[in-house]
Amino acid sequence: MKEWNKHDLIDLQGLSKEEIELILTTAKSFKEVSTRDVKKVPVLRGKTVVLLFFEPSTRTRMSFELAAKRLSADTLNISAVSSSMSKGESLLDMAKNIEAMNVDMIVIRHGSSGVPKILAEALGPSIINAGDGCREHPTQGLLDVFTIKERYGKIAGLNVTIVGDILHSRVARSNIWALIKLGAKVTLCGPATLMPKGIETLGVKVSYDLKAVLNHSDVLMILRLQKERQQEKFLPSLREYARLFGVNQEKLNAASKNILIMHPGPTNRGVELSAEVADGTQSVILEQVTNGVAVRMAVLYLLLGTKDKGSEEIKNVFTH
Ligand code: CP
Repeated sequence: MKEWNKHDLIDLQGLSKEEIELILTTAKSFKEVSTRDVKKVPVLRGKTVVLLFFEPSTRTRMSFELAAKRLSADTLNISAVSSSMSKGESLLDMAKNIEAMNVDMIVIRHGSSGVPKILAEALGPSIINAGDGCREHPTQGLLDVFTIKERYGKIAGLNVTIVGDILHSRVARSNIWALIKLGAKVTLCGPATLMPKGIETLGVKVSYDLKAVLNHSDVLMILRLQKERQQEKFLPSLREYARLFGVNQEKLNAASKNILIMHPGPTNRGVELSAEVADGTQSVILEQVTNGVAVRMAVLYLLLGTKDKGSEEIKNVFTH
């Protein structure tokens, strides 16, 4: 087993290629657990995982909770509206109170970039970033590369195009880090107003012509237009956006390759992709959701489950 010595998962920028590969290999083993009649292994028995979400979530929150429960951990959900923050308590004070109850891990989603890192520096429990502002969404990036690898058997050398609202996308940033480290060729495509200036310095190409990039793409990762993060008017109209950057079957049929279609969800059908594409044979959108549980099980296990266990016990995880 390769070495894992991280205490927190804040971003993929800070992980090595080997650490990302270790998560993917561990997730492959854990995926089988969710297909069993009894979907539970005892590796995190006695551990407590707190889910602290300050933004809406369906997939990430549910799959972290399922992952923790399938590893036999206890879970606790806290939402900002029902917490004492509504009475004026600061986030750091609340987090310190949660720590005082001897929890082992806090999974946090927050609208401001950098909040998970601040908590990791201030607190003892392991911190997982479940999405911070426009910065990173590391477990989404991991489940995306896991899904690509499952379909193509490799990442290195593949042409992956990420299309849409790159500017506001933490999913794009995490995927860029993971894909580049694993050897993929990444192209970003979208309107100039939604393309971060200088993003090429990360090692990606930029295009403003979706039809042109489709011809050499193996994978098309379609992003949601994040209207809630757009304070300015970035687009003339949604109709114009859909015409130029929306993905429909006609555009896919015109491409020379059978492109794998991905989307992190939630989708805006009729805006960034058509219903036909979302539900079509090239789409792995629901496979991404399935893989999210396995990847999050792997992350929880590596962060919490290996500390006080011998290698024999770790090997036995998958046979019980
Ligand atoms: N992909 C993703 O983060 O979805 P949720 O917002 O539903 O968690």
